[in-house]
Amino acid sequence: MAEQLASDPFHGFGGSSQPPVPENVAIIMDGNGRWAQSRGLPRTQGHRKGVEAVRAAVRAAGELGIKTLTLFSFSSENWSRPAEEVNEIMGLLKIFIRRDLADLHKEGVRVSIIGARDNIPEDIKPLLEEAENLTRNNTSTRLVIAFNYGSRDEIVRATQKIAARVASGEVRAQDVDQDMISASLDTAEWADPDLIIRTSGEQRLSNFLMWQAAYSEFVFLDCLWPDFDKAELQNAIDIYHSRDRRYGGVKVAKAGA
Ligand code: FPP
Repeated sequence: MAEQLASDPFHGFGGSSQPPVPENVAIIMDGNGRWAQSRGLPRTQGHRKGVEAVRAAVRAAGELGIKTLTLFSFSSENWSRPAEEVNEIMGLLKIFIRRDLADLHKEGVRVSIIGARDNIPEDIKPLLEEAENLTRNNTSTRLVIAFNYGSRDEIVRATQKIAARVASGEVRAQDVDQDMISASLDTAEWADPDLIIRTSGEQRLSNFLMWQAAYSEFVFLDCLWPDFDKAELQNAIDIYHSRDRRYGGVKVAKAGA
């Protein structure tokens, strides 16, 4: 029997030869260290190779028509890694912005950064601002880099913003609602992820987009991040298409079917 979903904007894939791509995709890039260690290389080599996978992912997202691609590049907890590794990742981020920004801009990619800005290295801050400012008016894929990002920290910062508005009398406590919380998060300007991918076989959210993931589909891929490419992204999208998104609703039989 033909079915459609009561509140699912994606209903009807079954009859369509080209189901729509998920517009908003977020990726937990995991497995750089294991990729390197399995080859007898230092972990830092895995991160270097991981940047190539970042380039491939951004290109593939543009080709597939993904609107927003969010990449978890450095968490607020990653500072506890050995200094050498932290320095390597910082260096790679700087190189990525310096070398790739012009190309991203040419491709019409808009770069946005989420995460706390107050405790990041002084030489990185202006690079992040430059990337955002240069690409501000671009309209193809939006590349969101989660840097020094932790979902709990983001929710605390959002709560502080709202508490300050309540304290000043601008907003009444009873008027605080889900929309106000969403609008106070770092991700206020774009939609929640339809699809969250994690590579390397691990199945955790690790403090990533916890509020925004309320109705996301999760796809866990076995491939390690340095091996991620367009085919892996397509594989994740194919798995996404096999899911029923109900947003808390129920399946209803199509009238007359
Ligand atoms: C997870 O692998 C990866 C990271 C914590 C860092 C990701 C950073 C990059 C790919 C480079 C910079 C990013 C951009 C956007 C240019 P892991 O080290 O936790 O791997 P493991 O679980 O195998 O140890």
